[in-house]
Amino acid sequence: MDHFTMKNGILHAEDVPLPAIAEAVGTPVYVYSQATLERHARVFREGLGALDDPLIVFAVKANPNLAVLRVLQREGFGADVVSGGELRRALAAGMVPDKIIFSGVGKTRAELELGLDTGIAQFNIESREEGRELAELAHARGERARCALRINPDVDAGTHEKISTGKADNKFGVPLHRAADAFAELAALDGLALEGLAIHIGSQLADLTPLETAFEKVGRLLGDLRASGHTITRVDLGGGIGVPYRAGESYPSPADYGAMVARVTRDWGVQLAFEPGRVIAGNAGVLLTRVVRVKSGLSSPFLIVDAAMNDLARPALYGAWHDFEPVAATDQRMTANIVGPICETGDTFATDRDCPALVAGDLAVFRTAGAYGATMASSYNSRGFVAEVLVSGSDFAVVADRIDAGAIMDAERVPEWLG
Ligand code: LLP
Repeated sequence: MDHFTMKNGILHAEDVPLPAIAEAVGTPVYVYSQATLERHARVFREGLGALDDPLIVFAVKANPNLAVLRVLQREGFGADVVSGGELRRALAAGMVPDKIIFSGVGKTRAELELGLDTGIAQFNIESREEGRELAELAHARGERARCALRINPDVDAGTHEKISTGKADNKFGVPLHRAADAFAELAALDGLALEGLAIHIGSQLADLTPLETAFEKVGRLLGDLRASGHTITRVDLGGGIGVPYRAGESYPSPADYGAMVARVTRDWGVQLAFEPGRVIAGNAGVLLTRVVRVKSGLSSPFLIVDAAMNDLARPALYGAWHDFEPVAATDQRMTANIVGPICETGDTFATDRDCPALVAGDLAVFRTAGAYGATMASSYNSRGFVAEVLVSGSDFAVVADRIDAGAIMDAERVPEWLG
């Protein structure tokens, strides 16, 4: 459930009519609903109600906006970060180091150092090589880095191939059949306090079965490691629950997920961690855009909007569907190709889509843009970066300024030798 609803024929974010935001901030603009973020955070936590003191860390990559992180920090969430930049954001949003987990397959030495400086709760180590490096850095400081070993369970998450992470040939984690050896080697190093396992098999999962299969594999490994004398106190089960992108689709609820987790992990005797991203932020945001013009096409007309693939990359990258809705209610429909202004055919949000009949100047939204939306933006075609707005009740605030093409150009130089 979200708080983007039609009231008196006008789409509102909570109590704010979207035309008011377009007027004040311009378009395109990402609009987030605080009440929706809070609701999703609570529903997720309640879904895990049967578990003893789980650690819930928001996957910052899904939406790193400081205001969004702050909302989730106030809900008791920590942060799952994958770069020094994300770590700094989590801290700036008020998240405590004890609730920060550092994931990622390519943490640099500087990032490992930053994690140590910060005293984060856990590094999720993705390889023996990374573990050895972290051990050396921590040992040199007389410390032991708290960490978990990420396992690659070789499970097909059944999602888009570009966002699957748990197949044997993906770059993530240590293959299951080598995990016990890797664990034994790393657990023996002075610089590491290796007492955990971690897993994340992919994103936008429509079905709990692959997660269950993967968790069962982790459970067996946990038993084997304990039988060999290792101590395991923490298991991080990652993120991945999918959300509906099309009205009417149904996805596993956090309650279904929580029940499955409680069943599979009931004898584990560990503190569980979770790294939800999309399920918290996805339906808490829309991309508000204005129709530039409608151009006739060979079959369907082209509805050209002022948002483009640089602002919302998911359709171009993954062929993803985002519902497209008018801001002013209309019963008239059209079949259109919804496209942005960028000079490549990939800048297509939808082909032959049944959609509201709109004309130049009309406002519309792409739904479910709160996760992996603004954060994946680029400045391609020198379009700058879109503004972001947070709504709470009848208030709204710009939480990220629009960065125009001029500001980006200001960071560039023509060397003297070019005259
Ligand atoms: N933990 C780890 C280690 C991850 O790699 C991810 C997502 C998450 C947690 C959060 O997963 P979620 O709960 O959001 O599914 N740009 C793509 C999604 C990439 C996901 C990458 N990893 C998209 O727009 O669909």
